[in-house]
Amino acid sequence: MIYQLYQQHIFPHLLNQVMQTPSLMDQRRELLLPVSGQVLEIGFGTGINLPFYQNIETLYALEPSAEIYQLAAQRVHESALQLQHVQARAEKLPFADASFDHIVSTWTLCSVDHLALALNELHRVLKPNGILHVVEHVEYQDNLALHYLQNIMTPIHKRLADGCHLNRDIEQALLQANFSFKEQHYFDATGIPKLAQRMFFARAQKRPTQSAIKSSTVTQ
Ligand SMILES: C[S@@+](CC[C@H](N)C(=O)[O-])C[C@H]1O[C@@H](n2cnc3c(N)ncnc32)[C@H](O)[C@@H]1O
Repeated sequence: MIYQLYQQHIFPHLLNQVMQTPSLMDQRRELLLPVSGQVLEIGFGTGINLPFYQNIETLYALEPSAEIYQLAAQRVHESALQLQHVQARAEKLPFADASFDHIVSTWTLCSVDHLALALNELHRVLKPNGILHVVEHVEYQDNLALHYLQNIMTPIHKRLADGCHLNRDIEQALLQANFSFKEQHYFDATGIPKLAQRMFFARAQKRPTQSAIKSSTVTQ
């Protein structure tokens, strides 16, 4: 009961504040600059990315939490973008194959329950030449003590922060889901607790699947 109250009435406001940390705002601006056309944003949250989009045809704002999306209302109202709210989870996307030119995830892949399923879905709905843009906090790979602490703290952090894992290797997960990178780098964000400071910024494309390679060989 108290936990439910926290999740529905307190956490969305905390999220809205933390996600506006200035160093994160800078990353949003840089990540979203080349995004255009038909766009899917997963884990739209409180709509903090909205002012950074340019040249968008339609933005599909996927956000499963009604309480969190409620806090996006003002930003959605003030935005000139054509926006469609989709209340669904990244693990089961209600879109046809190859629907999107660009897909965006800013600090969402840490929170999805089933990362591999969600990435398979992103792969499915992205057009063959489409681009997936991500910025995510990730596990430390060069600091065993911090990595250990991330593992220890993740079960508690998941309870406090709506399922957020501190210890995911997003780069590896994307490679396993048949993406390849056009651009990728790591950095440490300022103004964020140490255990969530290591960030992965990347733009990825679909690697052709084996069946696609076979069919293009046959038709040549
Ligand atoms: C840390 S917040 C980030 C919000 C927003 N992307 C931002 O940059 O401010 C994670 C978001 O992912 C959403 N989320 C959690 N599980 C999800 C899932 N399975 N599919 C899509 N979104 C999910 C949460 O409701 C929350 O809005």
